[in-house]
Amino acid sequence: MNLLKMSVTSKKHTEGQHEQRKFSILRANTRLAGLILILVVLCLLPAESWAGKEASIQLPVSSENDYVLIGWNDLGMHCINPSYKELALLPPFNNLWVQVIQRGDPPKIVTSGISLEYSIVNNTTVKGKTDFWQYVQQLFGISLPEGIGLTGNGLSGKMQLVGDHFEATGIPVLPYDDKMNWNPFQIAKVTLRDNPGKGNKTGQTIQVVLPVSDEIRCDMCHMQGMDGTVNLSNGGTDSVDTNILMVHDYYHGVNGISPPLTSQNLVDMQPVLCAKCHSSNALGAPGIPGVKSVSLAMHSWHNGVDRASDGTCYSCHPGPLTQCLRTGISGMGYMGTTPTCQTGSCHGGISGMGDPNRNPWVTEPNCEQCHGSNYSTGGTLYRHSKGHGGIYCAACHNSPHEWWPSKLWADNLLPMKLQRAPYAIGDCRVCHTRKMDGDNPHSTYYPGNQK
Ligand code: HEC
Ligand code: HEC
Ligand code: HEC
Ligand code: HEC
Ligand code: HEC
Ligand code: HEC
Repeated sequence: MNLLKMSVTSKKHTEGQHEQRKFSILRANTRLAGLILILVVLCLLPAESWAGKEASIQLPVSSENDYVLIGWNDLGMHCINPSYKELALLPPFNNLWVQVIQRGDPPKIVTSGISLEYSIVNNTTVKGKTDFWQYVQQLFGISLPEGIGLTGNGLSGKMQLVGDHFEATGIPVLPYDDKMNWNPFQIAKVTLRDNPGKGNKTGQTIQVVLPVSDEIRCDMCHMQGMDGTVNLSNGGTDSVDTNILMVHDYYHGVNGISPPLTSQNLVDMQPVLCAKCHSSNALGAPGIPGVKSVSLAMHSWHNGVDRASDGTCYSCHPGPLTQCLRTGISGMGYMGTTPTCQTGSCHGGISGMGDPNRNPWVTEPNCEQCHGSNYSTGGTLYRHSKGHGGIYCAACHNSPHEWWPSKLWADNLLPMKLQRAPYAIGDCRVCHTRKMDGDNPHSTYYPGNQK
């Protein structure tokens, strides 16, 4: 097998090209002065031998027909409730996307003749990790075998072809491995099967982070005696979730201070699915007309200075330990010690999130707002948009919140495997077998809604 040779990475490579440009200028000088010639030759030597070393780093793909698998999770983080006994905000539900490209001249997006399988590394059972399946019938009105998620997928299985990519939706992955170690960054292994192309290896795999966390810290304020329990007798109970239902009843229950909407208190309806009354685009739940969406109710209510003045995005979203926003790109991750979601530059802070005019899960930040119109995705979400040659933005940049390079090493496994560098996929040789010129896939070729 002829392993294709490559140099150090897109970034480093560009730096290398810089060096070579400088050398040509120096080379001109050499014709002018003998002394300089000697110095320049001395300078040139290490570079020429560096260029020679291009051969020393190998690309893992092998021949013209090789298939490149690129996978990502759609949101970059998925939140679950630690328990579903009393209330449910969101079920275990992770979406995995994969695009397959056949290397060549030109490269092709592959949708037929192959199949993809997924499994989760050291995470093969849901036993003892959640009580979701005990309450799923009451909460969602469907009975599901243990280990099977709301769309029929389990912790391993076959991916489905959806147009130009493959998907496994609603994977009920939990943040505990089989030894019950807590880790919100589980790793899916995707394996290529039935690969018909010549020179292709059936069994070729990639690893993709499936992020899931139960670190929603309602307890910071709704634990007995905390700010969220001031109106409950005895400062509430020792169950955080019961306290939440009780404070909801205090305001909107049968004897609540606002006119009640139902003839039942939430504490008597357990387990309570919030989306039963508050619409949620995430669950496709219509809610009760006139009642705010889960997102609007939660963000606008908790925006009050007297309610959650010390709250941050990480009080409810995962979280102080999980640190959902983990890109290493400065300006899109942390500003000092503060995640940028908090400062408002992407989501508009808690006031932006509590804006009644936004459509939850649909009105989301885009790249254009900071990088300009060359990077517009029009009215389409970043996570559904495509660029260069029909490749998804997220295939080259990764999921929202974990854009390459990521501070979490596991996120970087894929670009490291494909191009030996944790940056956006920019080494043309990952997909093209003809030598291509251009700094990155944007400046070179951008059909569709991009330059
Ligand atoms: C930073 C503090 C803080 C955090 C974090 C927090 N809450 Fe609250 N929440 C409050 C306070 C304060 C109240 C109002 C208590 C009162 O007026 O009696 C409240 C009220 C509520 C209410 C009642 C609203 C109504 O009008 O019926 C619900 C429901 C609620 N919180 C759910 C949650 C959930 C679910 C979480 C976690 C995902 C959460 N809260 C996290 C502080 C917080
Ligand atoms: C039986 C219906 C019902 C269920 C179930 C329900 N709510 Fe509500 N909730 C309401 C109604 C009605 C209101 C008041 C008006 C509104 O939000 O439009 C309300 C108000 C709220 C508010 C205050 C919004 C505001 O700005 O005044 C929050 C926060 C809230 N609910 C969170 C939750 C959470 C979290 C759950 C799940 C534990 C939940 N609700 C379950 C009916 C429900
Ligand atoms: C008091 C708890 C709480 C706080 C604080 C909070 N969130 Fe949320 N957030 C939620 C809940 C609960 C949902 C799930 C809504 C649903 O199921 O539709 C959610 C959903 C979201 C969503 C997806 C749905 C949508 O409306 O687009 C985004 C984005 C989001 N939050 C961003 C933020 C940001 C940014 C901050 C900090 C500025 C923040 N949240 C602070 C509880 C909170
Ligand atoms: C809130 C503003 C903001 C948004 C929104 C934003 N970015 Fe950025 N981005 C930045 C900043 C600031 C930098 C750092 C620029 C620098 O260091 O010169 C950056 C840098 C980058 C880089 C590294 C570029 C380089 O030359 O090093 C990439 C790649 C990138 N962004 C991709 C994206 C993508 C993809 C999106 C949409 C999902 C996006 N950005 C949305 C602010 C933003
Ligand atoms: C074939 C791979 C590929 C695809 C597809 C792709 N990008 Fe990029 N993108 C790159 C590379 C490589 C860079 C340069 C990154 C760097 O400098 O670190 C980049 C840079 C960017 C930047 C930073 C620009 C700056 O100001 O420096 C943004 C924003 C961006 N891309 C958005 C998008 C969006 C939106 C899409 C989808 C419509 C997309 N990209 C699709 C590879 C890709
Ligand atoms: C992730 C895979 C991928 C990467 C990386 C990539 N391309 Fe492409 N490229 C494609 C695909 C797919 C097409 C579409 C081919 C078609 O339309 O048939 C394409 C088409 C092109 C085309 C037009 C067709 C042709 O062969 O002339 C050019 C030019 C091009 N890419 C340049 C580049 C350059 C330059 C880079 C590196 C900076 C790059 N590409 C990186 C996948 C990639």
